[in-house]
Amino acid sequence: MKADKILTNFKQIFSPIDKGHPLRGSQMSEANIIEDGYIAIKDGKILKIDSGKPAAELIDDKTEIIDYTGKMATPGLIDCHTHLVYGGSRENEFSKKLNGVPYLDILAQGGGILSTVNSTRQASFDELYNKTNDLLNEMVIHGVTTVEAKSGYGLNWETEERQLKVVEKLNQDHVINLVSTFMAAHAIPPEYKGKSDEFIDLVIEEMLPKVKAEHLAEFCDIFCETGVFTAAQSKRLLQAAKDLGFKLRIHADEIDSIGGVDVAAELNATSAEHLMMITNEGIDKLSQAHVIGNLLPGTTFSLMEDTYAPAKKMIEKGMAITLTTDSNPGSCPTANLQFIMQLGCFMMKLTPIQILNAVTINAAYSVCQADKIGSFDEGKNADITIFDAPNIDYPFYFFATNLVGSVYKDGKLVVQ
Ligand code: NIG
Ligand code: FE
Repeated sequence: MKADKILTNFKQIFSPIDKGHPLRGSQMSEANIIEDGYIAIKDGKILKIDSGKPAAELIDDKTEIIDYTGKMATPGLIDCHTHLVYGGSRENEFSKKLNGVPYLDILAQGGGILSTVNSTRQASFDELYNKTNDLLNEMVIHGVTTVEAKSGYGLNWETEERQLKVVEKLNQDHVINLVSTFMAAHAIPPEYKGKSDEFIDLVIEEMLPKVKAEHLAEFCDIFCETGVFTAAQSKRLLQAAKDLGFKLRIHADEIDSIGGVDVAAELNATSAEHLMMITNEGIDKLSQAHVIGNLLPGTTFSLMEDTYAPAKKMIEKGMAITLTTDSNPGSCPTANLQFIMQLGCFMMKLTPIQILNAVTINAAYSVCQADKIGSFDEGKNADITIFDAPNIDYPFYFFATNLVGSVYKDGKLVVQ
């Protein structure tokens, strides 16, 4: 078969191995590193990748050949945990953070997530759309081609639905592929203060069926944390979501370890998020239940905490992990996945191969789209991130700058 396009003369291509499941434990250190290679594309899909010069049988007079001498390519990066759609910003909390006021205290005082709930409820569809569109533009220039996006700054149907519809519309309009998660159980809304069980009832009885009927989200998530939702409430909501056919995620063991990990394992969630405070037993449970750990080192960094999720230990104990931004206006205001990858290296001591697997093939499994994205297997979408770097180590070594030169989405050049 002839290629439409061949991207050639790469110094290195990082090619993850798709084993039919997320890479676990020592598998996270495996990958094919192709030296002096090319990527051939047909109809927006990967046709072939290999080292050396492209074979003559791939080329005819219509094949476009594009030279990437000296560059490094990876599959399009996947940011599999974000809270992208919100009104306002929270730099007013910065001095509190600097003075050591804990994140949960700011929330308990009606700030934090609840302050963003206020601004999101007041924002129109167009305001939310434009703001999210700007964030997505920022993400794609940093090499990201797929993003998971959660609701959860409405906490009432009207605003949750508006957030989910912004994601739905941007999935059609923006080059980035979006995966939607319903997370109305992100905080207890002021009108339900002291009545969190009743709020869970509302989410289960009224919101979840509407999200399902309108096809507005594939995943359901909840913040299982001291002062927010208990493990019992998390289990009740996620079981109801599972019964309706949602896939599950849970924010667990972020600040306190209160049982969210057990819920993730019992209900076979796709992923458990944060896990900064996870115990050894918790790691074993997630490992045995094959729950992916979505780790968010930018959140530890931005909250000015010392404890990063024990990523190396998780890998040693056989877990599959991803790294992701958590992009949100409070605990991690960034759209730069490269910086998060660098934190994975500097603060968690993960290797470049483990990190690149985390943000490609494992993140593809975390959004349940590994049949289409996350590696360079023939027939997958030609989503390709090209770094102005000669090898896979360089983007970790030369930190805090955007090293992405070009991005292809479905075989089309979208960043150059
Ligand atoms: O994942 N932890 C809960 N939710 C978000 C933060 C949201 C916010 O502070 O606005 C998180 O860190
Ligand atoms: Fe989060």
